[in-house]
Amino acid sequence: MGNKIVVKREKARLSDPRREIVFRVFRFSAEFDVLPFYADFTLKVAKNEVLLDALNRIKAEIDPSLAYRRSCRHGICGSCAVKVENQALLACKANVFELADRYGELLTIDPLDKKLAARDLIVDKTRFWNSYRAVSPWLEATIEEASAKENLVTPAETDRLGGADACVECGICFYGCPVVAANERFLGPAAFAKSYRFAADIRDQTPLDRLRQVSGEKIGVWDCVKCYQCYETCPKEISPIDKITKLRAMIGAERVDQNSIAYRHARAFKTSLEKYGRLDEAANAIESAGFFGALKYIREAFAMLRRGKLPFGVKKIERLDEVQKLVKSASQESKERR
Ligand code: SF4
Ligand code: SF4
Ligand code: FES
Repeated sequence: MGNKIVVKREKARLSDPRREIVFRVFRFSAEFDVLPFYADFTLKVAKNEVLLDALNRIKAEIDPSLAYRRSCRHGICGSCAVKVENQALLACKANVFELADRYGELLTIDPLDKKLAARDLIVDKTRFWNSYRAVSPWLEATIEEASAKENLVTPAETDRLGGADACVECGICFYGCPVVAANERFLGPAAFAKSYRFAADIRDQTPLDRLRQVSGEKIGVWDCVKCYQCYETCPKEISPIDKITKLRAMIGAERVDQNSIAYRHARAFKTSLEKYGRLDEAANAIESAGFFGALKYIREAFAMLRRGKLPFGVKKIERLDEVQKLVKSASQESKERR
């Protein structure tokens, strides 16, 4: 008798292609809760269901109080960004079977930043939008509305944007950026990608203003530490770090904000390579921070001296011409890519 029941269940399981998944969801109400907690919801999920479908079903069938953002269900509005097993993604683009294959049949769902949770999976994005607004995310151009000729943009001119116009403002890059977490003034990768999107648009009439907006110390592109996190996680494959690199090159080429420490550091680095084929640490510190500014690094300088890392008189390397050729070729390539 017992065996028959087991066989029956097994048959039913095999004839039902759905999988039973436990969704462990972060719950918190900034208004009512002192501490966050997790709630488990079990659903049978079909092969074609995405995470957003599962959240919609939990809300409709189990707990109407579950809060999360969503709108388009097509990866366009950017509102449904959450974390699954600590990996940020768009819930409407993440197939549940694929998630279960990767992480198992218990999936932990968190907001993009737990510290900013306003309610359940909804984060307070005020800082993200403020950063975004700071780079004037619109086209500045005088365009005749009823002109006799169209304002045509060629495919090559569109290619210059490098896909930056596809950003859906999901915030995944922003909340994953270590500099955003450490420095509350840093504008962050999404704002830089947007700034580049307009600075590189041939119709825009304010590219220099845009470069000034993103070149300041603490807030701007020079504070990016090139960790490539934003490249790894952007669901639209925009690669904000690539746009940051281009903005830096544009700032250099247009000679914007040449007095910033970061700009002077980059220039000193290049000069040192051209002159010696290696880094002249002392000259670099003085050139970057100025003589009096460099004095604040005096303790580090003595420590480096003790370890032989700050030699007096930098010697040229043997094949200096090879390094000079590399610097020249990198400068040329950077000009061509702009
Ligand atoms: S590459 Fe720069 S902007 Fe991108 S996540 Fe890292 S520090 Fe942030
Ligand atoms: S750059 Fe990518 S990750 Fe960042 S907000 Fe835009 S779409 Fe989202
Ligand atoms: S609901 Fe619009 S991107 Fe997911």
